[in-house]
Amino acid sequence: MRKPVIAGNWKMHMTCAQAKQYIQAFLPLVNQTPNDRHLVIAPPFTALSTLAEELKGSLVELSSQNVHWEDDGAYTAEISPMMLTEFQTKYSIVGHSEPRKYFSESDEQINRRARSAQAHELIPIVCVGETDEQRERGEAERVIRRQIEQGLEGTDPEKLVVAYEPIWAIGTGKTCEAEEANRICSLIRQWVGSSDLIIQYGGSVKSNNIDEIMSMSDIDGVLVGGASLEPNSFARIANYQN
Ligand code: PGA
Repeated sequence: MRKPVIAGNWKMHMTCAQAKQYIQAFLPLVNQTPNDRHLVIAPPFTALSTLAEELKGSLVELSSQNVHWEDDGAYTAEISPMMLTEFQTKYSIVGHSEPRKYFSESDEQINRRARSAQAHELIPIVCVGETDEQRERGEAERVIRRQIEQGLEGTDPEKLVVAYEPIWAIGTGKTCEAEEANRICSLIRQWVGSSDLIIQYGGSVKSNNIDEIMSMSDIDGVLVGGASLEPNSFARIANYQN
C-alpha cells in the first residue's frame, strides 16, 4: 500500500513570525484528517526550527527545500543533512525546477543530494518534469526518463518520493490534465521498476482540482506551491476526498 504524501512547498515565503501564525491557523483544520496520508510542509531553512517547535505532537511532518551532499565543509550557502535532521526534518526536496533553472543544478548534483539524503534517513522528494518547448517537440518522455535515470541512480526506491512537475504547469494556473499526469507517473513507475514508489504530481494543484488528481491510480500525492501558502486552501487539499 502506497501512503500518499501531500506536501506544501513554501518556496521563498514566510518569516518565522508568519510561519508560526500559519501553523496556529492550519493545525485545527487538519485535526480530523485521516491518517491514510502524510502531511508535509517544506518551509525556507530559516523557519525549520520554528516549525519543528510548532508541529510537536501533530501529524504534520517537515521537509527542507534542498540538501547538500556533504556532512560539512567549505560550501558557503549550503545546508547539510545533519543540520536538517537536527530539527526532525523527514524529507528534502531535491531537483526542483527553480534551482535547476536559476542555479543550473545538474542531474548529477541532484543525484548526489538524493543519495546523501537517504544515507541520513531523509526521504528525498526528487522533482522531474519537462518544459513547454520540450513537450511541444515531443521530447517530454525522453527528458523525464533521463532525469529519472541520472537523478535516481543508486537510490533506494522504497525511501524515495518522485514528484512529476511539468514546468509549464508550475505557478501558471495551467494544470496538466489528470489523465496525462497519471500516464507520465505510470511511465515513471515502470522506468524505476518499483510498485512501491510514491509518485506525486505538482503544478497548479488547487482546492478545486485536488480530488480529481488524487483519484488517479498512479498519483500518490501532490507537491503544492502557491495553494499551500494559505492555511484554508492547503487544509482543503490535505483533506482531499477519496
Ligand atoms: P505551484 O508550484 O503549485 O504554485 O504551481 C508547485 C511547485 O513548484 O512545487
